[in-house]
Amino acid sequence: MAMASTSLHQSLSPKYPHLFHNSRLPPTRLRFTSLRFPSTIRATSAVSLEPELSTQQSFNLPAIYRSGFKCNRCNKTYSSKENYLDLTITAGMKDYTEVKPARTELFRNPLVSFLYERGWRQNFNQSGFPGPDEEFKMAQEYFKPAEGGLLVDVSCGSGLFSRKFAKSGTYSKVIALDFSENMLRQCYDFIKQDDTISTRNLALVRADVSRLPFASGSVDAIHAGAALHCWPSASNAVAEICRALRSGGVFVGTTFLQYSSTTSWIERPFRERIMQNYNYFTEEEIEDLCTTCGLTNYTRNVQRSFIMFSAQKA
Ligand SMILES: C[S@@+](CC[C@H](N)C(=O)[O-])C[C@H]1O[C@@H](n2cnc3c(N)ncnc32)[C@H](O)[C@@H]1O
Repeated sequence: MAMASTSLHQSLSPKYPHLFHNSRLPPTRLRFTSLRFPSTIRATSAVSLEPELSTQQSFNLPAIYRSGFKCNRCNKTYSSKENYLDLTITAGMKDYTEVKPARTELFRNPLVSFLYERGWRQNFNQSGFPGPDEEFKMAQEYFKPAEGGLLVDVSCGSGLFSRKFAKSGTYSKVIALDFSENMLRQCYDFIKQDDTISTRNLALVRADVSRLPFASGSVDAIHAGAALHCWPSASNAVAEICRALRSGGVFVGTTFLQYSSTTSWIERPFRERIMQNYNYFTEEEIEDLCTTCGLTNYTRNVQRSFIMFSAQKA
């Protein structure tokens, strides 16, 4: 984590203007603004022909997505794709490959990304998930202390909730972040098809939840819908979320519980076996994860195997 806190976080950091393009042309200044955290980073010559990279209150996404970045502290470069900014460590690597656990890799599959909002997600209702509209309403209640701030929807998938957060107008900026390139492409397509979403305040970023590209204490709200069970290390991820949140910032997550209150003792070992591809937790484990990572005011709402939990950075 030390590596993350000294380099990558600065890429979208409001506090450290340390990313430069490795170009011979003078770098163009690119301004990421949020109402609370005005910031400046340097962008690439690839975008230097853009008349205006960003306005005072919004992202210029086409310009950002055509940019490349280099951290002038650690020298790490980051590539960008047509429709999202790739801030993973492996961004731009040509020969080196790294495989994550199956529960992460599954969602990188183009077919899974295509089917996700076309039937896959609807199946969650059978386990007690109340459905996107209700989940969104519940999350918005928890996020009240973060209104007007920067919200990051980590593990956004194809952007089901990122779109709702962006449309709500509740936040100054929304970042839809996922590890899956195909989920982000699908997310981009859905956004493009919806005229009611302004991309001025919504950016798509590829990153690993265990290495978030944000300065410590710079994010007001973090949402992670149906994601905890998919992460390679839930403890690394929650610690990283806690690091990125500002004091008083809010984390809201949903997941499937390993057991619901109605799961019989006979059924429990069987459930453990069939669910071994994912990392399902008990209610106690989730609370323990949040509190030992430094989050406070833990609260939760449980309906059968569905849990929505919320906690705040002290
Ligand atoms: C079940 S989907 C949830 C999508 C959406 N948030 C929702 O509520 O429907 C889980 C998501 O977690 C993402 N994911 C898995 N491992 C990840 C990691 N290490 N970092 C970031 N995202 C990850 C997957 O790519 C996938 O899009």
